[in-house]
Amino acid sequence: KKIEILQALEKNGIVAVLRADSVEKALDIIDALIAGGIKSIELTFTVPNADVAIRKITKQYTDHQDVLIGAGTVLDAPTAQIALMSGAKFIVAPTFDADTAALCNLYQVPYIPGCMTVNEMKTAMQAGAEVIKLFPSNIVGPAFVKDVKAPLPQLEIMPSGGINLDNMCDWINAGCKILGVGGSLLKHAETNQFEKVTETAQAFMQKYKQLRE
Ligand code: 3PG
Repeated sequence: KKIEILQALEKNGIVAVLRADSVEKALDIIDALIAGGIKSIELTFTVPNADVAIRKITKQYTDHQDVLIGAGTVLDAPTAQIALMSGAKFIVAPTFDADTAALCNLYQVPYIPGCMTVNEMKTAMQAGAEVIKLFPSNIVGPAFVKDVKAPLPQLEIMPSGGINLDNMCDWINAGCKILGVGGSLLKHAETNQFEKVTETAQAFMQKYKQLRE
């Protein structure tokens, strides 16, 4: 199960980092993203009642086996428990937490903790993480990934923070297969232009596919 989710994350490529101010808005954004071909969504716990949104969306998309809804900004195990019970398929955080790692291992769900140093990555790997979130990735840049992947080729590094259509190629060239994208993907959501969110999602997916060929 865990391996299948990891494979799907790798196949889907882009993880949309979704921060919205209400459940309703989050649902509208998710519909727009899915219409544009984005299949992995990190619904963050900064969305009020994020667990309700996760529950609703997983129910709505039950027939879409390829849509992966995960939880983001999960800082501790109690929050991870709520996310998992609501149907989240993966857990993402800006930080590393050992209890959350243990809980995710128990349920065989991928835990993608935030890391900024090689030592943090090692700790996360020893706790069972196969993918880490390099956050905030714009601070370190793609060259960091390239250098870290030399000693740690077995680790999948998902950069998140400041990724856009123009710099996406640098991250992919550095060896990243999974990219976390928030602001640049969702800029039109702020003004409720959901068709434009779909168009942006299409542009990201098209570029991603081109770059991975
Ligand atoms: C986050 O956790 O907010 C992500 O890293 C998204 O960053 P971005 O909005 O700069 O893409």
